[in-house]
Amino acid sequence: MVVRLGILGAGARGSDTYARWAAEHPDRAQVAAVADPLPHRRERLAEAGGVAKEHRYPDWRDLIADADVIGLDAVVIALPDLIHVPAALAAIDAGVPILLEKPAATAPEDLEGLAAAARAHGARIWIGHVMRYQPFWRTIRRIVDSGAIGRLVTMRVEENIGFWHFAHSYVRGNWRSLAASSPMVLAKTCHDLDVIRWFAGEAPSSIASNGSLTHFRPEHAPEGAPERCLDGCPAAESCPFYAPRYYVDALADVDGWPVALLGDDLTPQGRTAALRRGPYGRCVYRSDNDVVDHQQTVVDFPSGLSATLSTSAFTGQNTRTVRLTCTRGEIAGNLRTGVVEADLFSPTAALPELPEARVTRRFTRPPMGHSVTEMRAGPVTAEGEPDHRGHSGGDAALIDAFVTALAETRPGGDRGATDLEASLDSHRMAFAAERSRIEGRTVHWGA
Ligand SMILES: NC(=O)c1ccc[n+]([C@@H]2O[C@H](COP(=O)([O-])OP(=O)(O)OC[C@H]3O[C@@H](n4cnc5c(N)ncnc54)[C@H](O)[C@@H]3O)[C@@H](O)[C@H]2O)c1
Repeated sequence: MVVRLGILGAGARGSDTYARWAAEHPDRAQVAAVADPLPHRRERLAEAGGVAKEHRYPDWRDLIADADVIGLDAVVIALPDLIHVPAALAAIDAGVPILLEKPAATAPEDLEGLAAAARAHGARIWIGHVMRYQPFWRTIRRIVDSGAIGRLVTMRVEENIGFWHFAHSYVRGNWRSLAASSPMVLAKTCHDLDVIRWFAGEAPSSIASNGSLTHFRPEHAPEGAPERCLDGCPAAESCPFYAPRYYVDALADVDGWPVALLGDDLTPQGRTAALRRGPYGRCVYRSDNDVVDHQQTVVDFPSGLSATLSTSAFTGQNTRTVRLTCTRGEIAGNLRTGVVEADLFSPTAALPELPEARVTRRFTRPPMGHSVTEMRAGPVTAEGEPDHRGHSGGDAALIDAFVTALAETRPGGDRGATDLEASLDSHRMAFAAERSRIEGRTVHWGA
């Protein structure tokens, strides 16, 4: 069966992830309709996917209203965060299965309302929590599930956002302000909270969080810095955030994310013009951003597991690292290198089958001689290097699972690892973390 998808939002995710996957898998999925108010985005996606002229819409509401006529099997909601809930509610009403980008909702009451509506209609909603589908995390999860390393005691996740990525998305871009999107702990790290919740296997008992917007503020602007980089900034040479260096020079060969956000003219002249007038050319110290640039969250669970999530804008690389300490072993991983190291304390412990990893080294660690296995998990390029495209394999695996589930005929079908119901706690954890940060106190679960 070729699944007929309607794509709501022809931006970075709608085009570069979902429509691209469909184009690469014509025997599995087809984009049958698209909605976006920006003609250049809508038409680019529609032309690439062969969408009929009458099924190209300027607004998501018109597309959903026509879902039956178009004969859609599902919709993909890749809209700005603030309109996820109304679009999902409309799709529930229309009876169409949904792949909903994270965050599912930006406020607790909206999240619970959406969940209630989904339950009432028996709706199938998958959330774009791609990390659960990454071979890197699935490998670590398999080791934990095997019991070889005992019971989880601590879990430390670091979300290293990368200085230029943070400036792009959280200072100048779409996720820079609470009014335009949501707190950073939700917008960026609901993925990490979802993974923590997934590994814990239960809801938390308490959450404590702190963090602030410490750097991207007017008082840190270099002396004489104007409103925009191109207005003769005296710090152009030395500032790590000088916009033309990103968008015109370093990313000269890129026309997808993040450059596509500049507009439809991606010639050097078009990029420069966009930096002169659009948000991506603003001085990072003079934007209207208010989301935090670092945050530390501690999540405790009834089992005794204590998880920490450390998020920072000020990292050279955009990647995640993790360390799990358990009663009979330890696992450390780095998503960028793909390296996972499992240290088993018991002389008789053995690792399970790990189909998505390649063992690179085994050795014993003195003085006790316990066994350490080093492996690489995740897709690799033709040169054998870690392949980080598509969220290190997570995007493709998620869409594949979604399309497979849609093609299944049994009632209800597979609800998927990132079903809305399974994703609720990650969002609740983010809301609780933000409350803790603002109110300066530990938030007890359910209180
Ligand atoms: N799962 C992930 O890892 C991941 C990664 C990045 C972004 N996201 C999420 O995906 C969503 C989309 O992000 P993006 O980076 O593609 O953003 P984007 O801004 O590039 O795309 C959003 C698109 O929606 C369109 N749009 C706005 N109003 C509309 C309307 N009324 N009807 C139809 N279209 C409308 C915009 O014109 C834009 O083209 C966001 O919610 C974001 O948080 C998820």
